[in-house]
Amino acid sequence: MTYELASSSWGEEEIRAINSVVQSGRFTMGDHVKRFEHDFSKKFGVKHALMISSGSTANLVGIAAFFYKKKRPLQRGDEVIVPSISWATTYYPLQQYGLKLKFLDVELDTLNMDVSQLEKALTPRTRMVVAVSILGNPCALDVIRSFCDKHGLYMFEDNCESMGAELGGKLCGTFGDIGTFSTFFSHHISTMEGGVLVTNDTELYHLARSMRAHGWTRDIPPDSSIYEKRGDDFYEAYRFILPGYNARPLELSGAVGVEQLKKLDGMVAMRRRNAHAFTTLFKDDKRFIIQRENGKSSWFSFTVILNPEYRVDRNRIMNAMKQADIGFRIITGGNFLRHDVIKHFDYQCVGEIINANIAHDRGFFVGNHPRDIGPQIRHFHEVLVKAVD
Ligand SMILES: Cc1ncc(COP(=O)(O)O)c(C=O)c1O
Repeated sequence: MTYELASSSWGEEEIRAINSVVQSGRFTMGDHVKRFEHDFSKKFGVKHALMISSGSTANLVGIAAFFYKKKRPLQRGDEVIVPSISWATTYYPLQQYGLKLKFLDVELDTLNMDVSQLEKALTPRTRMVVAVSILGNPCALDVIRSFCDKHGLYMFEDNCESMGAELGGKLCGTFGDIGTFSTFFSHHISTMEGGVLVTNDTELYHLARSMRAHGWTRDIPPDSSIYEKRGDDFYEAYRFILPGYNARPLELSGAVGVEQLKKLDGMVAMRRRNAHAFTTLFKDDKRFIIQRENGKSSWFSFTVILNPEYRVDRNRIMNAMKQADIGFRIITGGNFLRHDVIKHFDYQCVGEIINANIAHDRGFFVGNHPRDIGPQIRHFHEVLVKAVD
């Protein structure tokens, strides 16, 4: 393909790291995972980082942890405010834990939650806002944080698409009471499958840590506030305290993560250089709505929405891209409300959902990569302009 959606970000270091794990014979959650967690917490300036099997299980374990807090736990039937564009597994744990979702529309230019609607969504049952920065572009995390603080709500930050992005000099993923990251292939760093949960709240950290591995106490320090250690070592070795999961990461992923993290800044810088090439070509052409950067995006990909005012047919554009061998896809998962699975949710829309539908029907994205793709971007631009003219 002349312009791929994604490509590997690995070099020899990652292969060597894998080989060393294979030779060690220990494959699951050991020293490499610990080292990755240590390096991640330092890099992101957070107290705790927990590596998990995926971004989706980081969301699952993270939401679950709020249900077992000693003070003010989440409860079934509580309301949570969410954006209408995100990945399906942002929403699934909310449904699985019996929360009611209040959907807000997105802004057409940033593609993030329209925070001007937050007050309208607030009711006495509101307990949490889920903030998602779409495709590297920080959402209004500062506004959402203040809103949550003002109303005593939890803020859950699904940052699975935006590692390395910043708002006001603060790294995305660190605004929420819990923040999550994905290290799946094509993301800013890749550990094959993988995810990370970060928090400065030690109780939430211990709850998530226990939830990650069977809901037992083995990985929890004996002085943790989430359980009281008893004297009997025989029973203590297999003591279950929470209805948890097995979402443990592999040592292979941990070892690769250590190497990838060292390269993160350089790879994000490269993505930003590509973004400069992309925005320079597209920014003044009103036929295309491209993502408006809020803060400093880490540019997962490049979105294009065909401006409804110009009536350009998306199928024509998609055919031209297919013929030119350019990879493209729907923006994240499109408007989540348009998927069949929504019938299983307890939810309500706050105001009209207009922009998420426009992005769903008239949008797509092409890939960004941690290497120079200037020629591919220029080719894409030529193909698009020709197809529209
Ligand atoms: C916003 C968001 N949340 C969660 C996930 C899930 O991450 P994973 O694929 O690692 O399970 C993704 C995946 O890309 C995502 O985009």
